[in-house]
Amino acid sequence: MKNKIKALLNEVDDFSAETKEQIEEFRINLLGSKGKLKSLFADFKNVPNDQKKEVGQLMNTLKEKAQHKIDELTIKFSNNETSTTDYLDLSRTATPIKLGSRHPITIVRNEITEIFSRIGFTVSEGPEVEDDWHNFSALNFPPEHPARDMQDTFFVESEAGEMALRTHTSSVQVRMMENNKPPIRTISPGRVYRNEAISARAHCFFHQVEGLYIAENVSFADLKQTLLYFAKEMFGEETKIRLRPSYFPFTEPSAEMDVSCSVCNSKGCTICKYTGFLEILGCGMVDPNVLGNCGIDPKKYSGFAFGMGVERIAMLKFKVNDLRLYSEGDVRFLDQFKAAF
Ligand code: PHE
Repeated sequence: MKNKIKALLNEVDDFSAETKEQIEEFRINLLGSKGKLKSLFADFKNVPNDQKKEVGQLMNTLKEKAQHKIDELTIKFSNNETSTTDYLDLSRTATPIKLGSRHPITIVRNEITEIFSRIGFTVSEGPEVEDDWHNFSALNFPPEHPARDMQDTFFVESEAGEMALRTHTSSVQVRMMENNKPPIRTISPGRVYRNEAISARAHCFFHQVEGLYIAENVSFADLKQTLLYFAKEMFGEETKIRLRPSYFPFTEPSAEMDVSCSVCNSKGCTICKYTGFLEILGCGMVDPNVLGNCGIDPKKYSGFAFGMGVERIAMLKFKVNDLRLYSEGDVRFLDQFKAAF
């Protein structure tokens, strides 16, 4: 009996486990209801009286040692578990998630689109690589016309002949007039390209929203009222507008529109160069030649068009002083528009 117990004590000392299952097997085998210790205790009554004390002590030692070993190994395994397996701690401080934000150009383009959609303008889009007809000829720029030089164009060689990166989204308006019957009321947001040296005030690509309204009896008064509505919605109810005569080949008469400077309340500041006003768009009545080019009867219909640069409006709205910031992807700049939308 004593030898049996001593052999078991050695077994306990030598035992080590690779898995939790092995510990459990060890426990059942030794301490379980049909385990070795149980049968030792059952045999205890056969131990001669003079040895009972010694054997009893040995058996207790064995039981304690076995339990101790099991506890020790169980703790070791549960420690391993915390370090290697995922677990859910609902009280832990959350890891901050990096939230993106809309680009300021997108924010302003969406706002312009929304303002015009409230008065019935649809949104139209077209290709960025255009043919000469849609970017120039249909819009009253004959091949030798000096006004082509106003828009420094990037030309692209293609199988279809010489193409150009569109210099304005008026090309989309030509497509709309060719493919739809009046009344037409649409705005064309999109990216445009011009071969200009990159600086704080100019870039080789930027974004425009151009508008077009063609119906019977459309007058300059309609144009002015539409633009006044836009300026007030965009820059605030107290905004004033000013139209100055200008020239575009595709509109007659043509004008440029200024809005009162919201930075200084028209008192004069560096942004408005002490004039109290800021130029934001070009506009005019669509030239009857252009209507004819696009298959619309100029005797029956008239219309107005306007075009604005999104970067410029965003500059005024967010007081951005360098155009290059829009395309550099600097997170320190972009992060500032999180609160905006
Ligand atoms: N297409 C002109 C530009 O890019 C803007 C414009 C549009 C002017 C419509 C008048 C009418 O500069």
